[in-house]
Amino acid sequence: MTYDLNEPAAGHGLDLPGEVHVAKDAEDLYDDLALVFRSYALKADDERGVFHVALSGGTTPWPFYHRLLIDPRFREIPWERTHIWVVDERRVPDDDDRNNFKSLRGSLLEDIPTPPSQVHPMMVMRDDPAGLYEAELRAAFGLAGGDGPPRMDFVLLGMGRDCHTASLFPHSDAIHVADRWIVVNQGPNVTPPDRVTMTYPLLNVARQLAVLCVGSKKAGAIKRVAEQMKSGPDPVNVPITGIQPTDGGLTWYLDADAAGA
Ligand code: 6PG
Repeated sequence: MTYDLNEPAAGHGLDLPGEVHVAKDAEDLYDDLALVFRSYALKADDERGVFHVALSGGTTPWPFYHRLLIDPRFREIPWERTHIWVVDERRVPDDDDRNNFKSLRGSLLEDIPTPPSQVHPMMVMRDDPAGLYEAELRAAFGLAGGDGPPRMDFVLLGMGRDCHTASLFPHSDAIHVADRWIVVNQGPNVTPPDRVTMTYPLLNVARQLAVLCVGSKKAGAIKRVAEQMKSGPDPVNVPITGIQPTDGGLTWYLDADAAGA
């Protein structure tokens, strides 16, 4: 089976880290990203018999999740052999509308044949939710105590207008974490502020990371990242620049408005 993983790069002139894929509008962008998602799913299934994917919340990705669901071209995604992880979660009950997993369940999970044992919400209202999720990662990846971080096959990230990603906020404690895969963190400028999030050590060992940004509201943040990269990464002030895959790919998926084109 052949995989088309080489995304065409449009002439956007954006000096962002990794690859940049710009589509003329959001509809085309969701399509392009869904094709790439399918390719990574089929490749992982072919090579390892399982596809581990971590998905973000926020407001941007829902039309993309919906596209995966309704478009017959994506029916061959091996959902039965897929594990669904959550990149970060708000510390609210799972029936709260601000809960990312609640939205994920409604927009995708309820309609795909992934066994419930392979769907991994974060237990954010429990004591030590970070330790619980790390234990779940170890069990699902068959890792022993001292083994290194598990490698996700595909991670979908978003980016806030303050250039945060996951729940890695500017000047927040989680930015500096080097010895954990999951931590509790606070975002002073977001609601709810209390979060549980994947850390850079876990995110940066992924095989492929995709950052999805849509609309002119994100153009300023995109420009700021490109500006920052002229002098190198600064995760404390521009957290998305801490996404530096150690042995994987990073691709930005932007529509023309977000790219400022
Ligand atoms: C969250 C997300 C967060 C999100 C960005 C962008 O829980 O809010 O995981 O990292 O991706 O805040 O959010 P929007 O897509 O709403 O702009």
